[in-house]
Amino acid sequence: MVTKFEKNILCIGAGYVGGPTMAMIAYKCPQYKITVVDINPDRIDEWNSDALPIYEPGLDELVNSTRGRNLFFHTDIEKGIKESEIIFVSVNTPTKAFGVGAGMAADLQYWEKTARQILACAESSKIIVEKSTLPVKTALAMERILTSSNSGINFEVLSNPEFLAEGTAIKDLEDPDRVLIGSSQTQSGIKARDELVEIYLNWVPDDRIITSNIWSSELSKLVSNAFLAQRISSINAISSLCEKTDADISEVAFAIGKDKRIGDKFLNASVGFGGSCFKKDILNLVYLCRHYGLKEVADYWESVVKINEFQKDRFVMNMLTTMFNSLAGKRICLFGFAFKADTGDTRESPAISISRKLIDENAELVITDPQALENAKNELFEYGGNVSFVKDPYNAAAGSHAIAIMTEWDLYKGLDYKKIYKLMNKPAFIFDGRNIVDHLQLFDIGFNVYPIGKPALTHY
Ligand code: UDX
Ligand code: ADP
Repeated sequence: MVTKFEKNILCIGAGYVGGPTMAMIAYKCPQYKITVVDINPDRIDEWNSDALPIYEPGLDELVNSTRGRNLFFHTDIEKGIKESEIIFVSVNTPTKAFGVGAGMAADLQYWEKTARQILACAESSKIIVEKSTLPVKTALAMERILTSSNSGINFEVLSNPEFLAEGTAIKDLEDPDRVLIGSSQTQSGIKARDELVEIYLNWVPDDRIITSNIWSSELSKLVSNAFLAQRISSINAISSLCEKTDADISEVAFAIGKDKRIGDKFLNASVGFGGSCFKKDILNLVYLCRHYGLKEVADYWESVVKINEFQKDRFVMNMLTTMFNSLAGKRICLFGFAFKADTGDTRESPAISISRKLIDENAELVITDPQALENAKNELFEYGGNVSFVKDPYNAAAGSHAIAIMTEWDLYKGLDYKKIYKLMNKPAFIFDGRNIVDHLQLFDIGFNVYPIGKPALTHY
């Protein structure tokens, strides 16, 4: 039986954004055919298997109910482009590692290759949707490439940044705070925008679909992430002051969060923020500001990243000074390696730089994590046998001098810490980089407890 679909939608890039986003569109819109393509055949094989390439609560169910029905994963990008009317582009845009803007600007080579490939393969007009986070004015560059050949084919470029957070991606996609669509204000731009709005209207209330000009949309994505990261750096900066003054960061966060203008979300002091977006997007913003001669603005936003580095450095310095100024030969167990709970993603995880600093001190590192051990191994590949990776947290903690909590997995809240204490070297230390365990209870068991932004509980 040949099913006739109302629309053929393609997504180029089957990553953390492209995969879940397309699965949700397929789930909510059985009348559309959704195809997801990627240059990486292994990744596509995984999307077509029972072991999906990313861990995300609810994703397996979504993919199982749509794959083969109206959701398809394959590597034939050319065919995908030819057959679709709407193309989401969700390829990676890492920070540039070379040349002008190295370490700051976005590396747009994957984007440009995609634009050129679309141009080379397209036989009919298309709407191109930027899903990846991109520097302002990328849509313009995209449009210039797409209109460079006078092929007579019309390409309309829209910006539709994705605001999902990992670990809650499915919930965020199903019930988004807002969907933002930026378009050019021409007749054909507005027509294309309305077509995209129509897709989202299948499940998103219309008052949550926001439209804007294309530059505002591109910039809003960078600014959203910058504001979120700034909140974490703000609370983390105050956590360092709390540690000096015996104030308690949880009490301070609770008190300030009661002010509706401030709000109580995203105020958890931590060992630092990680993830593929925050640092990259802020540096992108900083680069743009510098480019436009706004030095003070650039410095302001760059300080958000600097405080994040300071927080990680501080954490390790605290471990070092607490543990008698020497970590050499001591077994340190990291509880968690993912950059946050409910994901296996370790990109820019604070655990990476903390591991490196601990290894520099000649500590013996043991890493445990329920979902991120494979990625952790890749991140610390260069250290070979100096780091061990142990799935079971009890086995991981056995024989260690200290535990450092890196990720706020629920699992670590409910462990039998009496048992763990017995298995550890004494004096036993716990450094809670997420403030998730019961500090008093651990202290009563015998641990010396070092939270973030709270007085330490020590037995001497
Ligand atoms: C972020 C944005 O939230 C999302 O809208 C955007 O689309 C992509 O970037 P994500 O990186 O997946 O999402 O995770 P997020 O929940 O924002 O957390 C980022 C980092 O901040 C994590 O390392 C997290 O542990 C840390 N964090 C978050 C804190 O340290 N304290 C908090 O209160 C909140
Ligand atoms: P994000 O977190 O933004 O989704 P990921 O790195 O998880 O980023 O995913 C990006 C995906 O894009 C990767 O699977 C990568 O193989 C794919 N990709 C990169 N360049 C191209 C390209 N030119 N054509 C198709 N896929 C690409």
